[in-house]
Order: sequence, then C-alpha cells, then structure tokens
Amino acid sequence: MNQDFTVTPWDVSGTIDYKKLIEDFGTEPIDGELLDRWKRLTGDDLPMALQRKVFFSHRDLKWLLDRYEAGEKFVLYTGRGPSGHTHLGHLMPWMFTKYLQDKFDAPLYFQMTDDEKFLFKQDLSMKEAMSYTYENALDVIALGFDPKKTKIFSDLEYSKTLYRIAMEVAKRVTFSTARAVFGFDNSTNIGMIFITSFQSAPAFLPSVEAGKNIPVLIPQAIDQDPHFRVTRDIAPKLGYYKPAAIHCTFLPSLSGSDKMSASKPESTIYTVDDLKVARKKVLSAFTGGRVSVEEQKKLGGTPSVCAIFQYYYYLFEMDQEKLDQREQKCVRGEIMCGECKQELADRVVKFLEKHQEKREAARDKVQDFIVSDYSAVYDKLKRPQDKKEVAKLMKTMKEYCSVKEGEQISVRKSKEFK
Ligand code: TRP
Repeated sequence: MNQDFTVTPWDVSGTIDYKKLIEDFGTEPIDGELLDRWKRLTGDDLPMALQRKVFFSHRDLKWLLDRYEAGEKFVLYTGRGPSGHTHLGHLMPWMFTKYLQDKFDAPLYFQMTDDEKFLFKQDLSMKEAMSYTYENALDVIALGFDPKKTKIFSDLEYSKTLYRIAMEVAKRVTFSTARAVFGFDNSTNIGMIFITSFQSAPAFLPSVEAGKNIPVLIPQAIDQDPHFRVTRDIAPKLGYYKPAAIHCTFLPSLSGSDKMSASKPESTIYTVDDLKVARKKVLSAFTGGRVSVEEQKKLGGTPSVCAIFQYYYYLFEMDQEKLDQREQKCVRGEIMCGECKQELADRVVKFLEKHQEKREAARDKVQDFIVSDYSAVYDKLKRPQDKKEVAKLMKTMKEYCSVKEGEQISVRKSKEFK
C-alpha cells in the first residue's frame, strides 16, 4: 500500500489517494455509465453523495441492479463499531443508506459490532460498548429509517442468531488469509481473528431467513472493504450470492487533514455536542487562509485544502451552483475565511439542533428497531402487521420454541441451517 496513507478497518490516516485505493483493493470506480443507469432507474436527479463522488467505488453494483431490474429486491446491510459517540462522518453513509431504503424500498439490517470494539479497544469495557450501541442506535433512528423495514442489532445481544452463520464462515477462513488481509501478528488477540466471520453473518442472514438467495448491498466506508473481501470469497462456498458493496470516502477532520476521528475530539463534531461547543469547533477549523485580509483579497484562498470548504462539499451545501460560486469567490479573494466559517457554523448548529431533537424522540422508538435474541421471535412478531405473516410466525414459534414472552428461548430444531 502507498506509504503516505493507511486504510484498514482499524486505522485510517494520512492523505488518502482514493484512486490508488481502488487499485490496491481491487474495487470498481463508480463511472459515468453506472451513474446514468442509476438516474434512469430511479427517475430522479442523482443524490449529492453520488454526484460528488462521496460514494466513489463499488463491487458488483451492476450485478445488483441487473437483479433489481429482473424483479429481485435487495436488502441493505450496514453497521457501526460502537466505541464512542456518533460524529458527522458516521452520518454520511447512514444518510445515503436512508436514501437507498427510500428509493429501492429496501429492508435494512444494521449491525452494531460492540463485540469487535470491546476486543479492539484496550480500555473499553463490554458494558460501555453496549451502551454506545444504544447511544449510536438513537442517531440511526433519528435519521428517519422505516421501523417496519429496519432491524438494528448488537452482536453481543444477537449472537445466537448470528453465531451459526459466523461459524460456517469461520470454518472456511484460514489464519493465513486473515493475517494477509488484516496484517495480524502474534500479538493480536484471538477474538479479532474471528471478528470478520461475525461481520459477514448479516450479509447472509436475509437469505437464511428467506430460505432462498437474496441480493444484499452493503453501503460502507472504504476501510471496511477488507472484511467483505473475505465475505465475498466465502459466499459461493456456502451457496449464497456475493454481497455487493458501495464505498464512500471519509469526511475530513476540521483540522484539515485525515478523517474526522474520535481520537481528535477538538476537530470532530459529535451529534451530542453542545451547540456552543460545536460552533467553536467550526470557528477554529483549518482553512489554509492567508495571513492577512489584504493578502487574502489579493491572492485568494485555497478551497482544496480548506476544511470548511470540505464540509460544505460533503454535507452542508446541497446546491451545486452555490457551491461553485463559493469556491470561485474564495479563489478570487472575494470572501474571507471568517465569513465562510460563520455561515457553516450556523448551518452545523441548525442541523445539530434538529438532529438532537429527533435523537431524543428516538428513545421512545428504540423497541421498534432493535432485535435481540432474548426474544427474537417476539421481535419478529412485533414487526409485520400483515396477518398472514403473523400467523405463519406464530406457527414457527410453536414449532421451534417453548417460550412465553420474557422467558428464555430454547430452540428445538433449526430448519433454516442445514
Ligand atoms: N466494523 C464496522 C466499524 O467498525 C461496523 C460494521 C459492521 C459495518 N458491519 C458493517 C460497517 C457493515 C459497514 C457495513 O465501523
């Protein structure tokens, strides 16, 4: 991999060359032809994330659209490693996932890998990881996903459902593969070596549940691709479709380099940030502006290195014409950094204020989204309102379980895993 940057599921740093990453990882760029097809298919203007190449790379997206056009609906699968509060960088792919759910009427499986974060972070307790699952789920729900089509689960709480699929995967991944893909060494704890199997499981769960192959699309930040390379290699061996993937870039940090990251709280905006604190973070961002107003007017600014401009680009200026005007004004020295920052700070604060309201309201909705093994069958029963489906599930429940709500479930036979 290029010496100037690193992209792995656990370490993203340096100035990332995304073109190089496509080559290194062996993914496909999202090209004009694919975008035209997307436009034709959705009958709409492209969403900002595709227009601006925030989502820039994919695996098997053409195949997925072929299946879709042939009448096979796909399921979305994405996730989050709950090691702390959600920041704006996390929201980017989730917002796009929401767009996908709406556009393609697709169910969403959302995995919280609290097990992974517990294993990876020395100082993170299991309890903390699980509480971040809850906190992060509030942010997911706040984005407006449809409760009837969305399941959010914690690995630690949904392990019974996922375990058998994970085992099928684990049996087919050697240590040598894991080491080559992730760079593990003798000091890596053995939990981490297994974790890709668990992250693979939700890609097959829709097929397991349906009893037939279901196409799956995984929207993800590009750092997760190594996991799913392994998943895709294993899929045919288990008789499943390879999951398709669509990859996004990282939201840069407010300090002007690297991605927005939990290890740099002063240049990262969290969804739970106090509004005054968030404003201050924006106002102290790196712009690369000139040393004096005179110089700025004479020489102009450099939007390509300016963190503030990146924020407009990624999240806070939907209107392409206005974005272009801002860029030109900056280059010509017609707008000063202070003004640009103030405007962005206002937008960020307004966004956060609304998001925090929805986030609070989400506390009453958590039960509509979270599925767990404690009462997995009841979770399902709560969901479909279709009478026929409820009747079917009741029958399944009688067949498989001998439980009343609140009791532990004992599985008698499992038809779905042969
Ligand atoms: N491991 C991911 C993280 O640390 C979380 C995750 C699980 C995920 N499943 C996913 C992300 C699927 C994208 C798609 O953030």
